[in-house]
Amino acid sequence: MKFLVTGGAGYIGSHTIVELLNAGYEVAVIDDFSNSNAETLENIKKITGKDFSFYEGDVCDKQLLNEIFKKEKIDAVIHFAGYKAVGESVEKPLMYYRNNIVSTLSLLEVMEENNVYKFVFSSSATVYGKPHTLPIKEDFPLSATNPYGQTKLMIEQILKDLRTSSDKWDIVILRYFNPIGAHESGLIGEEPNGIPNNIMPYIMRVATGEYDKVHVFGDDYDTIDGTGVRDYIHVVDLAKGHVAALEYLKDKNGLDIFNLGTGNGYSVLQLIDNVSEVNEVDVPYIVDDRRPGDIASCYADPSFANEKLGWKAEKDIKDMCKDAYRFANKQKSKKIIK
Ligand code: WQD
Repeated sequence: MKFLVTGGAGYIGSHTIVELLNAGYEVAVIDDFSNSNAETLENIKKITGKDFSFYEGDVCDKQLLNEIFKKEKIDAVIHFAGYKAVGESVEKPLMYYRNNIVSTLSLLEVMEENNVYKFVFSSSATVYGKPHTLPIKEDFPLSATNPYGQTKLMIEQILKDLRTSSDKWDIVILRYFNPIGAHESGLIGEEPNGIPNNIMPYIMRVATGEYDKVHVFGDDYDTIDGTGVRDYIHVVDLAKGHVAALEYLKDKNGLDIFNLGTGNGYSVLQLIDNVSEVNEVDVPYIVDDRRPGDIASCYADPSFANEKLGWKAEKDIKDMCKDAYRFANKQKSKKIIK
């Protein structure tokens, strides 16, 4: 079977391609390198020893998409491509709505024109807004507090309406919690452009000496130590969840939604402590004001994915911290050589 992976040069996309190739599937990739680079694709080949087709371009480009579907025998699509920085989405809502919504509509229209109806969508726990209780289940109320989250909610609604319109569509929506870590080779990982918005890449820049300290956004939340609690999940476990979703789609009809999390929550300070302990490195921090829009705690009930997909996160927080640091150090040594 061959899968089209949009945004395949990105953090989660690249790790998913590794697992798909390792599982013996064929892959075609489209990416515009707006938040990724070509080196990642070469590293996927180094890790797996396998090749795949690649098309540089924008998922909004229906002509390019049609070329791909005509040239490649695509059985299903995993759609990662999209902008994902919460803060940037508040500053540039039109850019986010255009890119994230139009790219998805273009992709779905071309799929329909080419009789491909199996679709896995990269959604996010951000669609739960501020949960009324924990752990979070898939049937919890949905809300968005920023344009990025709105685009995920809107696309989920588009997919639900699409499935209602025709039972030809087989759709899986995967709601990620907080992906961190890197492939054990240290060749691929999370490397955001500019100053990282997310906590783990920021911690990594402090741990490798690029920044002097972590800014902890608030320590007055109603949590174990006052800092924000999140469900961190190893990106390789997340990638394996996508392989499980594609295998589920082989004979499933309908639309299903799954939380991809570990079910365990860790605070910011607990994460910092784990990075420091596992890697024997100092991670200085300072407590600052809360970040507007942040919630106190968020962690998943992953039992539905465990039951239906036969998938469960296997790596623990120490694996995540060790693998993230190995990648960060390799990145640092590359910068020094340049
Ligand atoms: C985690 C914790 C912060 C940075 C976001 C998106 C979500 C998904 C993952 C795309 C919080 C604290 C953070 C820092 C800090 N992205 N923090 N100092 O906000 O849970 O989720 O990224 O799909 O959709 O909403 O992740 O890593 O930004 O924050 O103290 O420099 O770390 O307050 O408690 P978040 P995060």
